[in-house]
Amino acid sequence: MSKILVTGGAGFIGSHACVELLDSGYEVVVIDNLSNSSKESLNRVEEITGKKVKFYEGDIADVELMEKIFNENDIFAVMHFAGLKAVGESTKKPLEYYKNNISGSILMCEVMRNHNVKNLIFSSSATVYGEPKVVPITEDCPKGQCTNPYGWTKSMLEQIFMDIQKADEEWNIILLRYFNPIGAHKSGRIGEDPNGIPNNLMPYITKVATGELPKLNIFGDDYNTKDGTGVRDYIHVVDLARGHVDALKKIEENPGIEIYNLGTGTGYSVLDVVKNFEKANNLTIPYEIAPRRPGDIDASYADPSKAKRELGWEAQYNIEQMCLDSWNWQKNNPNGYK
Ligand code: NAD
Ligand code: WQD
Repeated sequence: MSKILVTGGAGFIGSHACVELLDSGYEVVVIDNLSNSSKESLNRVEEITGKKVKFYEGDIADVELMEKIFNENDIFAVMHFAGLKAVGESTKKPLEYYKNNISGSILMCEVMRNHNVKNLIFSSSATVYGEPKVVPITEDCPKGQCTNPYGWTKSMLEQIFMDIQKADEEWNIILLRYFNPIGAHKSGRIGEDPNGIPNNLMPYITKVATGELPKLNIFGDDYNTKDGTGVRDYIHVVDLARGHVDALKKIEENPGIEIYNLGTGTGYSVLDVVKNFEKANNLTIPYEIAPRRPGDIDASYADPSKAKRELGWEAQYNIEQMCLDSWNWQKNNPNGYK
């Protein structure tokens, strides 16, 4: 049976990927330094699946630990979720972001090469497109100027992975550009658990719904969109996780390097999300229009047809299900894993 090393597997998306991998018959080994997560998420992955996760607590930049993991486990491929991801924080701590995300990934690739494990699936982001010239965005759209160091780490890592694969065609590397993951596993046992006040829209809304935060600030209502609020492609995290299993099947065909957008193809405005959340959960979300947030763009949504064509993947869950599952997780775990 194939063993998959999931870096950052205790995090929001990584924990959902662990569930889908285990349910699909893969063995899962996780490395996570728990800098933005809790070991409890992996206990719950085991509870949901009835299967074991082999967990190593530590940093991907700890070469000794990484060597040990590859010596102790016959790894077929690495799903690389580990990274710092807070956009605002990255503008204040660029050095920490470049070191953690870029140096960490380079050291990881060296260990992989030492062990002749050259199959990699990377968590990239739609942020690499910068301000898109046209929507929906296809993978052929040129990459753009990122507005923050976090985004640049994704853009630069994509380039690094492409160069590694170009120089040694034994590598198979799939870059998955996620749009806006929300939702949670239907069990309500795993979900997104941000530290402090959430930066992203859906976790902010669910904290308003619990009463922990008084109201949602909508960042700008003068964007060039149907109602003036920003439009994004929200995707259910379980669909996203399933996309990783499909990418893994593609890796088994030795594809070389490939890039796929993972989104639904439909854009929703901030007001659409608020209304859908209220309707699905029979709740009221107080909000106020606030100034624009620096770096935000009008609209970003995917053309996901390449993933459908080549991976046989497409999103199954709609915005209503995303809103139901986000709230189901938050109301059952008002303090996350704490
Ligand atoms: P997350 O913070 O919940 O998960 C990342 C995990 O990596 C955490 O558990 C953290 O403790 C761990 N980690 C960080 N640095 C590490 C290191 N050096 N060594 C070991 N573990 C480390 O975030 P997430 O939302 O699950 O995102 C997963 C990946 O997907 C990230 O790379 C993120 O940049 C990318 N991504 C996320 C989104 C999003 O909106 N959530 C969108 C696009 C891309
Ligand atoms: C969505 C919309 C906001 C919060 C970010 C990263 C991106 C990727 C996904 C990792 C926007 C509006 C938000 C709030 C609001 N992450 N909003 N009030 O900015 O599309 O993408 O997460 O790769 O790199 O930049 O997502 O959820 O922050 O915002 O009005 O309190 O909601 O202005 O229009 P974003 P988001």
